Amino acid sequence: MLTPRLRLYTKNLSYWRMVQGILNPGATNTAITDTENLILSYTKSRHAILVSMGRMAIFEGLRALGCSGEIILSPITVPEVISLVHLAGFTPVFCDIKPGTWNMDVALAERLITDKTVAIMTTHFYGNTNTTLAVRALCDAHKLFMIEDAAQAIGAWQNDAHAGTIGDFGILSFSYPKNVTSFYGGCLITNNNDIALRVRNAIAAYPCVDKHWLYTKVIACAVKDIATYGPLFQLVYLMIRYGYKHNIQSIMNLVSQDLNPAFFETMPPHYLTRISSPQAGAIADKWPEIDEDVTHRLHCAEIYYHQLKDIKAITLPEVTGNRSHTFLYFPIQTENKYALQRYMIEHYCDVAVQHAPNCADLPAYQRYYCDCPQARAAYAGTIMLPAYRGFPLEKARQYAQVIRNYFNR
Ligand SMILES: Cc1ncc(COP(=O)(O)O)c(C=O)c1O
Repeated sequence: MLTPRLRLYTKNLSYWRMVQGILNPGATNTAITDTENLILSYTKSRHAILVSMGRMAIFEGLRALGCSGEIILSPITVPEVISLVHLAGFTPVFCDIKPGTWNMDVALAERLITDKTVAIMTTHFYGNTNTTLAVRALCDAHKLFMIEDAAQAIGAWQNDAHAGTIGDFGILSFSYPKNVTSFYGGCLITNNNDIALRVRNAIAAYPCVDKHWLYTKVIACAVKDIATYGPLFQLVYLMIRYGYKHNIQSIMNLVSQDLNPAFFETMPPHYLTRISSPQAGAIADKWPEIDEDVTHRLHCAEIYYHQLKDIKAITLPEVTGNRSHTFLYFPIQTENKYALQRYMIEHYCDVAVQHAPNCADLPAYQRYYCDCPQARAAYAGTIMLPAYRGFPLEKARQYAQVIRNYFNR
């Protein structure tokens, strides 16, 4: 049985909620407050504020700081994040990553601090929170704000502190590829009363999410759910494999997830909206499963790590055995991600390549250019091995063996 590179973490109940939202648009309920309370009690933070998207939590949180200046951040991220840092009135300063972490090199970040620096934003890419304490110490030493982009790290902990709660504020994302999804959505978490009040005031003025835009996204997710459903996926996979084998770009594009590399000079109007009640309900539906999902991903990570750790040609993430990394995927870095991906797909292992670019190299972001060779190499070489809940552990063993065969040819 072939297994897809990703099964979305959507639940049937969440689709039903969206249908109910259409059938009964006037209904009001307490879903947003209830879900915020659920997030508060899980993350043990003082404030949790649901917003239209994770990137908007960054934007609103930054504006609530009430200052401007430079923000040091990792170039491996969703490009829109960089645009929103700019639109919030700040200057992004790229800090190259540390190999094997897919996040900033904290020693390098220290060297980038200037009189203009006001904050450091650490990005817990793939769920790795292991820079958090070092970044906190650096920010405290230089009296800087610390921001945690925990979009990919729901369920990750540094000892007793959930991802996003060590910074002055943190953000979570509930977009469709994440382990808790409301199709689109985000949350700002903070222990700072002033930041929370300002963010609440700002979003209170926004209209509710554009239903047409949202339902287009819901339908796209339904299509993904159907196409990756067991029996049907067997056929879909044959098409994918044929496409990769014969280099048919139109088929490869269907499954590639390349992100929009454009720079936003103005805010897209549908970003300035509030999350809807059905979306908040979808977050609450999935929330109780976070811990079991993470446990499964850690098991996959251990299998990958132990079967691949002696291969010199690949860089692996550290596997600590605790919850400081949640492995939304298990990333491995080689020289050429496309060559390994093609080989794996030919050998019946469906895998995706890293789609988040090195933003420091994007032509549209030229004004912030900074040479980041490690981030460049990570984007060129990273494959994202599946670790989602329904991905069988024996498949992880099989995928690791195929990778071994690739390097032993
Ligand atoms: C690391 C990171 N930061 C920010 C975001 C933005 O989140 P959203 O898509 O909810 O705006 C994402 C989304 O993929 C992400 O992966």
